[in-house]
Amino acid sequence: MSTTTFETLPHKDLVSVANLTGAEIQSVFATAAELKANRDEHNDVLRNKRLAMIFEKDSLRTRFTFDVGIADLGGMAVFMDHRDAKIGSRESIKDVARNLERWVDAIVARTFKHRVVTELAKHCSIPVINGLSDSLHPCQALSDFFTLTEKWGSVRGKRVCYVGDGNNTCHSLINTAVKLGAHITICTPEGYEPNAKVVNEAMIAARDTGAEVRIMEDPREAVEGADAIYTDVWASMGQEDEVEERAGIFHDYQVDEGLMELADPSALFMHCLPAHRGHEVTAGVMDGPQSVVYDIAENRLHVQKAVLVMLMAK
Ligand code: CP
Ligand code: NVA
Repeated sequence: MSTTTFETLPHKDLVSVANLTGAEIQSVFATAAELKANRDEHNDVLRNKRLAMIFEKDSLRTRFTFDVGIADLGGMAVFMDHRDAKIGSRESIKDVARNLERWVDAIVARTFKHRVVTELAKHCSIPVINGLSDSLHPCQALSDFFTLTEKWGSVRGKRVCYVGDGNNTCHSLINTAVKLGAHITICTPEGYEPNAKVVNEAMIAARDTGAEVRIMEDPREAVEGADAIYTDVWASMGQEDEVEERAGIFHDYQVDEGLMELADPSALFMHCLPAHRGHEVTAGVMDGPQSVVYDIAENRLHVQKAVLVMLMAK
């Protein structure tokens, strides 16, 4: 039986990392580290708790890690594949929320429209965790920076450079970097920059931590001196029709061995996965010694277990 008293988060939901303070993120990391180090000691923290997982989009990592994660803690998950009938089309989001809260103790939602996550959160009394929306991917960014913290001890003052599309992964990476005092450079082709509101709010948050936020267009200039280079797919789920067009537009934004050489010699390569070798990253970089992609994927489990405990064990 677990004898540890875990800290809780003073929020009902995890919709965006922008809603967390730097101290709260560090507390998630401390909980994740304990759960990772002593898995078997904490296998009853969420005994008999139930997690609903509503996914409008495909998933390997998010689905497996939440499913295995809640089981590790003594609870269980129910998965609802909603790809064919989007949440809110058969019945209102509010009614889905009001039903689910009667049967389960928390919800993980992976949606197209970000509003579906916020509406679910608004209409039910139980925690709602954003498992990726078109706008944000908070669990990913927490795992990204937990992994960097493991590697470096602290991310404060380190330089993370994201090269590619200014998408959901990119937005949550920005949100998290500035809260932790890591410098973040985003390098995209013109027209594919991250959302201006996300960038502006990050710049305000960065004033408290000394983080720098840079938006650039030239990858070779952007990665200079970087301690980590991050990329993601050029066409996200829901943008399948744009795959070919984007392949042309993003051609010069591939993370290859030449680009890695312009960063710090010990720079890490990061990707949320799934990856497309030969597109946003070469096989050599993806499978090379600087790549930490599978460490990040592993840590999705530990970080999300921490989030579950800190939201549900109240
Ligand atoms: N990185 C990530 O969220 O992976 P999945 O889409 O497989 O869940
Ligand atoms: N940007 C990607 C992330 C997948 C984990 C997508 O939304 O498809």
